[in-house]
Amino acid sequence: MLEGLSAGVVTDVSLTQRITDALDEVESVFRTQLESDFPAVNDLCRHVERYRGKRLRPILTLLSGLAAAGGDPERGLTARHATLGAVIEMIHMATLVHDDVLDEAEVRRRGETVNRLRGNETAVMLGDYLISNAFHLCSSLGDYSLNLDLGAVTNTVCEGELLQLHHRDDLSLDERTYLAIVRRKTASLVGACGRLGARLAGGSPQSEAALEAFGVAAGVAFQIQDDLLDLTGDPEIVGKTLGRDLEKGKLTLPSVLLLASAEAADRDDVLAAIVARDSGMLRTALMRFGAIEATLERARGFVREAKANLEVLPESPARDLLGSLADAVLDRSS
Ligand code: IPE
Ligand code: IPE
Ligand code: MG
Ligand code: MG
Repeated sequence: MLEGLSAGVVTDVSLTQRITDALDEVESVFRTQLESDFPAVNDLCRHVERYRGKRLRPILTLLSGLAAAGGDPERGLTARHATLGAVIEMIHMATLVHDDVLDEAEVRRRGETVNRLRGNETAVMLGDYLISNAFHLCSSLGDYSLNLDLGAVTNTVCEGELLQLHHRDDLSLDERTYLAIVRRKTASLVGACGRLGARLAGGSPQSEAALEAFGVAAGVAFQIQDDLLDLTGDPEIVGKTLGRDLEKGKLTLPSVLLLASAEAADRDDVLAAIVARDSGMLRTALMRFGAIEATLERARGFVREAKANLEVLPESPARDLLGSLADAVLDRSS
């Protein structure tokens, strides 16, 4: 994700290097935490570590520390930030390992999912192991407010997933409920990166709130884009199993918007495609009625909202890079 940012946008080269170094530290903390005396456990952990994701959450945690500290690396980019970045990435990875069981997905980060490789039982336990290690690692920071805060966030993430399951095959799902799900299952953890990254840097309550709001809005845009990729992306480029939202009865924003606005006859086309789990027919209908563009417009609105929250922070290269990061959420193809 960072590589993509520096490719297209002029950024502060020394800042990019500092973040790259800190990300190496995040990886090292991550690996050390997951070392087990048992080769069977180690093999599984090495498997999930081998496939690196975009590392959006650790990047956001590190940049939020720097932005809250007005760009001062002494306060904004500490060893504690690297540990927190590893904790949050571990929580994220636990949710992915469990999510792939729910979605019966076979490919993740261009590799085989744990459920595909070792079955559901192992994937469920590995997800638990990752979440348990994340909170154990978090405790090593010696600040119980972090555990309390992240515990509330993981409760919220699970509520979002449970809400989503409750609305499976709900053809009357409205935009408000879709957004309530997305805010909980995805954006709450992204918001925590901003809030806690700022807190560890000794940022003001205003900077914590601004960076949290930045993360929440960027997180919503990110999930909307992910849902678009699930419908219209190329699995070779995205690097994970696509099309599962429709197959699993998850209505996403393009269908929600179209069903809310279409004429009765057109609605019938879309409903028929959804009920038949016919992704080709659904894509055609969504494009014909402009629902993809309407969805992108909603996502752009969340990116604008994210960036507006940065304005209260002192000017710094880290703040600028956060702005580019918000734009990159919609440019991404993986
Ligand atoms: C995937 O997250 C799950 C969603 C919230 C959409 P990412 O797209 O950040 O996954 P990785 O970490 O880069 O693999
Ligand atoms: C992400 O939803 C759910 C999590 C927050 C783990 P998706 O089901 O859309 O995630 P992907 O597309 O499988 O990565
Ligand atoms: Mg999934
Ligand atoms: Mg998805």
